Amino acid sequence: MNVIRTVKELRQAVAEAKAAGMKVGLVPTMGALHAGHVSLIDRARRECDFVVVSDFVNPTQFNNQQDLLTYPRTEEADCEKMERAGVDVAFIPTVEEIYPEPDTRQFDLGPVAEVMEGAMRPGHFNGVAQIVSKLFAIVEPDKAYFGEKDFQQIAVIRRMVELEGFSLEIVDCPIMREPDGLAMSSRNVRLDAEHRALAPAINRVLRESLDYAKKHTVAETERFVTDKINSTGDLETEYYRIVDALTMQPVDPQAKPAKGMVGCVTVYCGGVRLIDNIKY
Ligand code: PAF
Repeated sequence: MNVIRTVKELRQAVAEAKAAGMKVGLVPTMGALHAGHVSLIDRARRECDFVVVSDFVNPTQFNNQQDLLTYPRTEEADCEKMERAGVDVAFIPTVEEIYPEPDTRQFDLGPVAEVMEGAMRPGHFNGVAQIVSKLFAIVEPDKAYFGEKDFQQIAVIRRMVELEGFSLEIVDCPIMREPDGLAMSSRNVRLDAEHRALAPAINRVLRESLDYAKKHTVAETERFVTDKINSTGDLETEYYRIVDALTMQPVDPQAKPAKGMVGCVTVYCGGVRLIDNIKY
């Protein structure tokens, strides 16, 4: 595996792979790799000839400085995992390499980025669009891989791709879970033992809501999930919204949850902000 830290070297490595007729796959990450990331890499490995993984904690997508400062950074362990997974290039740049000057671009991401995470974390999706568009422009991958845990993020990235006219396939990959159902996340390492034991309730309640939803409306199902999670220890739901799975827009609250809708939840668990979702 080639560890590359500069944009120039990355461009060169990718150009050589393309000149040899290789199909290029990109897996953008912020490091602190876990089995969820490895599943994205495995999929890229199966579908592409040359796999690039970026490992970069992107400061422009953090609207909370404390979150940025405490974001786990595990470069050595990441490199071992990438090497084992058969990655060709690990791109691990510095902030100065990616942003030699401030990125002032404002993307017109529209309604898809205005709700849920977009409303709770102002500027977050613009920062995601900045870094992902930079990576797409440098690597020009045939395919890029993203995990469905960040369901709304994928919808936003599709919108950015449309806006910028990139020609690539966005591949969304299923959420990987711990045996007790907790969605894998780099933030899980910040949970203390008490909250690690509470956190699986999030997915458990989401799964229970599938049954509940058969006889109840969207509004009732949203209330069911919120109340049940909030009554588990000190878990606190920031929002639970059942939305259109393509546009991320609210659906009729009096309709029954149905195919094509996704429920997205954010929960504070002992100071750690966890997200998860479920398809109806
Ligand atoms: O999902 C993430 O880890 C990040 O938002 C991404 C897509 C790597 C951009 O920094």
